[in-house]
Amino acid sequence: MTTQHPPAVELRGLTKQFGSVLANAGVNLRVEAGTIHGVIGENGAGKSTAMKLLYGMLRPDAGEILIGGKKCAWASPSDAIARGIGMVHQHFMLAGPYSALDNILLGAEPLRWGVIDRQGARARLEALARQYGLPVDWDRPVEQLPVGVQQRVEILKLLYREANILILDEPTAVLTPQETNDLFTNLKKLRAEGKTVLLVTHKLKDVMSFTDRVTVFRAGKVTGEVETSRTNPQELANLMVGRKVVLSIEVSPAHPRAETAIEVSGLSLSGPVGSRRRLSDLSFSVRRGEIVGVAGVEGNGQSELLQALLHPRDSKCRTSGTVRFLGEDVTAWAPLRIRDLGVAVIPEDRLQEGLLLDRPVSENFLLGLQRSPAFSRAGFLDLRDLDQTAARAAADYDVRPRDLTLPAGKLSGGNQQKLIVAREFQRQPKVLIAAQPTRGVDVGAIEFIHTRIVRARDEGAGVLLVSSELDEILTLSDRILVMFEGRIVAEYRRSEVTERELGLKMGGA
Ligand SMILES: Nc1ncnc2c1ncn2[C@@H]1O[C@H](COP(=O)(O)OP(=O)(O)O)[C@@H](O)[C@H]1O
Ligand SMILES: [Mg+2]
Repeated sequence: MTTQHPPAVELRGLTKQFGSVLANAGVNLRVEAGTIHGVIGENGAGKSTAMKLLYGMLRPDAGEILIGGKKCAWASPSDAIARGIGMVHQHFMLAGPYSALDNILLGAEPLRWGVIDRQGARARLEALARQYGLPVDWDRPVEQLPVGVQQRVEILKLLYREANILILDEPTAVLTPQETNDLFTNLKKLRAEGKTVLLVTHKLKDVMSFTDRVTVFRAGKVTGEVETSRTNPQELANLMVGRKVVLSIEVSPAHPRAETAIEVSGLSLSGPVGSRRRLSDLSFSVRRGEIVGVAGVEGNGQSELLQALLHPRDSKCRTSGTVRFLGEDVTAWAPLRIRDLGVAVIPEDRLQEGLLLDRPVSENFLLGLQRSPAFSRAGFLDLRDLDQTAARAAADYDVRPRDLTLPAGKLSGGNQQKLIVAREFQRQPKVLIAAQPTRGVDVGAIEFIHTRIVRARDEGAGVLLVSSELDEILTLSDRILVMFEGRIVAEYRRSEVTERELGLKMGGA
């Protein structure tokens, strides 16, 4: 695509180093005005860094930023805002207790004779909301608004400040599929009005459906820029990873055994006094040899469910109901005793629960395996085999760098995740609880982890898969439970449900 106009945004050789990490290494990017431009890449590829440089939150070590063909240098985001650039961050920056209106006026008050003209501001915002079809309840505290609406508030804040170039960093991470569709409908309206949108994401589907062009990042560099209509998910994935990857694995039908792996009955968890119950009367079971997926937008009780399963005794809030693993009522058990039954866990929060960050990789590999027969002889811990086993697993799971003496905290997020997965599968589990198992890992490793989960199933593990990635749920699950506001609101068998139906249930429909 060529035009006579200069591009809305041009980055030339942008470079930014954090300590030893070269987060951006000569990034070149051109975005034509009036387009939706995808910026895609694996976690840690440098997307957010490039966007923060463009938005003036960071200063480049080298390189240039051109807006409408003119070189710019920002001292702070307010300079970028003054030139019509706006950014919605990965984590919204709204002040929860304040109304949507106050949130927009904070820091951008239109003064008329020295006082804030709330009425005038409100009228302008309502007009903008109508124009772009972004309805908002202006007077409610934003923390009471659904996430999709909070995002609208962020977008309206940019429009109110007359942004022409809108940067959205991973905007769909927290949305249901329907909210995602609404967002993209709105972005198309913005494009039709001549706005330029930079859409940052690691989701191939988002860029394929909604962008005009795509720039791909890998390891701080741009590895390609393509017109969306002339590319496909496979090509983009290969550019992201730097080799050929399998995007979605084929999963054979399950052969569940009669034996029950997990049985939860009547599980309730109360929140702080006066608040809504956080889990309401949950009952379900998972048999050995099947994968049961728990779908839901984050924050609908999945974390509480995991807590109740894995730390039943120390659950902070009063619980009722029972949890059984392999027929044993574990409701009063300590976590380690549960693990000793043959329960493997890929925890939701790998930094808090999964690893000892200041201990070497090899010791982390042992964590939780201390009492396994492989490493104990006559009641003593025998570490002779540890280094060898750890080295083999690190090679199998491609944990990088391949240095077992390195503290686990020095590995990247994706490699920490691979370390945990390698360790947990080593246990040949009878039960596997996998929470967000591929969060933060690259496209290539996703395929690998998925394959291993299915293999564990086929070797007889009962798998509970908790994931907010709908694709992951749909690819792997033999049965799907949907959680909404602390309840299971639907259950489906594989292939019995469409993505749309699931999305509606996830949104509480
Ligand atoms: N403020 C920072 N300090 C140190 N390292 C950082 C900082 N911000 C980002 N990084 C590192 O820079 C690299 C690129 O990060 P980022 O731009 O956030 O990637 P992406 O948005 O593509 O996931 C990562 O290795 C990340 O850990
Ligand atoms: Mg990012």
